[in-house]
Amino acid sequence: MDHLSAPKGRGEAGRVDPTKLPLGEFVLDEGSAVRLHPGHEGFPYSDGQGVEERLLQVLTETADLSTMSRELVAKITDWPSEYHLSPERHNLLRHFDRLDGARVLELGAGCGAVTRFLGERGAQVSAVEGSLIRARCARQRCRDLDNVEVYCSDFRSVEFEAEYDVATLIGVLEYSPTFFQSQQPLLDCLTMARKTLAPQGQLVIAIENQLGLKYFCGSPEDHLSRQFVGLEDLYPPGSVRTVGRAELAALLRQAGFTSVTFQYPFPDYKLPRFVFTEEAFTCPGFAPWEIIRQQSARDYTGRNKALMDERSVWPVVGRNGLIPDLANSFLVVASCTALPPSKHAGPALLAVAYTADRAVPYNVATGFWAEDGQVSIKKEPLTRPDLAEGAGDRSNAAFVHRFGEEAYVAGSHFESELRKAIRADSLDRYVEGLQAWLHFVYRHGVVGLDERDAPRSLIRPDFIDCVPRNLVLGENGLALIDREWEYRGRCSVAVLVLRYFDMCSGDPAFLEFLRRHFPRRQDAIAALLESVGVQIDDAAVQEFVEVYNEICGEVYPWVKPLTATRVDTWLRRHPSLRNRTYAERAIRKGFRLLRSSARRAWRFVSTIG
Ligand SMILES: C[S@@+](CC[C@H](N)C(=O)[O-])C[C@H]1O[C@@H](n2cnc3c(N)ncnc32)[C@H](O)[C@@H]1O
Repeated sequence: MDHLSAPKGRGEAGRVDPTKLPLGEFVLDEGSAVRLHPGHEGFPYSDGQGVEERLLQVLTETADLSTMSRELVAKITDWPSEYHLSPERHNLLRHFDRLDGARVLELGAGCGAVTRFLGERGAQVSAVEGSLIRARCARQRCRDLDNVEVYCSDFRSVEFEAEYDVATLIGVLEYSPTFFQSQQPLLDCLTMARKTLAPQGQLVIAIENQLGLKYFCGSPEDHLSRQFVGLEDLYPPGSVRTVGRAELAALLRQAGFTSVTFQYPFPDYKLPRFVFTEEAFTCPGFAPWEIIRQQSARDYTGRNKALMDERSVWPVVGRNGLIPDLANSFLVVASCTALPPSKHAGPALLAVAYTADRAVPYNVATGFWAEDGQVSIKKEPLTRPDLAEGAGDRSNAAFVHRFGEEAYVAGSHFESELRKAIRADSLDRYVEGLQAWLHFVYRHGVVGLDERDAPRSLIRPDFIDCVPRNLVLGENGLALIDREWEYRGRCSVAVLVLRYFDMCSGDPAFLEFLRRHFPRRQDAIAALLESVGVQIDDAAVQEFVEVYNEICGEVYPWVKPLTATRVDTWLRRHPSLRNRTYAERAIRKGFRLLRSSARRAWRFVSTIG
């Protein structure tokens, strides 16, 4: 996690290297290939010595250092390594279209996660990092990129020319109170950054929001790991701190920026899945909260039980126009001239949603665009199409992965509505929801309805992903969105049902809900399914396991194959109940009831006799 090492006192943290030097006068350290400020005497920022040493070793030993490297993902063991190695880090900037050939100054480059992204995008990167071990990590991460130079220095000790097209402060501005000894450290840091920019240059900032909704829900402040310390403005003097949107905008204007544009990464800027532009919140008919509510922000300490469910609150916040103020983080682009129009003339970008955790060809960026009052959606491979070799063209395989355009469907996210029924503890609403889903599948998604045993009906290839998270409840009822996959193999409705409950089976809120409503049933999921007319037998479990493994084996090849035993574990089907029809089970249940009431009657008779 990003934080300062054990307190070293303000004196040391605030000390500036004696001489300010231009980057051109830094001295190349042959061993590490980092360029050093000759007067640099160490730097107090650290994720922990052991953490950074391990990271340096990982980077040195890894062959594939690219932003999408699965080799690096395999080495994630904890939050700091996830922060430095996850491909999701780069979702923050993927939609920036002016990086190729741009002169980019990265202020506070850390261990090089963002540096790597900027370098791969073809920018001429000067990455400045105060901590030597972190600078060495950044150099290792970019060792094959000639367009990246890594410098080690406190950035206050650099004599910058006003020459950069882009300067970045990604997760850095909030640390300025620990380095700039003044009444207005954030302002000083922003002013310093502004002076590095060429006349048309842009400053890109990513920072947490002091008023982020997750903090109201009880998440500890991301840097200080204490609840409410930011909301109550209890930041100790000289400590890391952040501000809210209006304050940050005012500081930027004070620092001399005349054009300030906010964007909103969700769940936060560290590992964003979605980035929204300002336009998303003013575009008629577009409901960003229906996307935002699909993901929770993380409590990085992992210690606290949320005081309320953040995901349920976003729609209320959204309908009241408050998302920009309560977003958990900001991505800000500021400049001293009006920003040049984006390369994408015409449609305005509202949002981008990313899937970056799949095997490389299957990762996707989904853009939401507005033009002439219409919102449209376009899916593209996340990496360059030439890297996404084979994507969308797997005609010999059992499934096809599709990119392209689709219509935006206004309405509420259906899985979130099911979660809401759980939060409201309403079994009736939840079951109604399940029935509506099954009805939709039987009506629109089967090749032919099996009249005797409807869940055995085979689904259409493009309904393979028709689970509640890909449904929207709109004016005309349910609609299937995100039609990304076609599965050509045999797949029944029962498989879809198992897929959804496989996802739910790890959710404590869902399991608690079941315990409350089926207190006497060990096999509560099976009981719930019975109530919507679905019986799961061995054949359905086996079919689910095969379909799942066939798709996952390709899209998530590193994931251990699913087994029927694992499914049985969460289904808790009693072995003696397997492979029986519903009627057989009902008859046996009837016998059991008779037996137990006979026993009770016998006990009653024996106590009075
Ligand atoms: C939270 S980390 C973010 C690192 C990187 N930008 C990223 O997103 O992965 C903040 C980094 O900024 C560096 N930093 C903060 N203030 C600095 C300063 N005055 N001079 C140089 N580096 C600084 C810290 O050493 C640390 O590596």
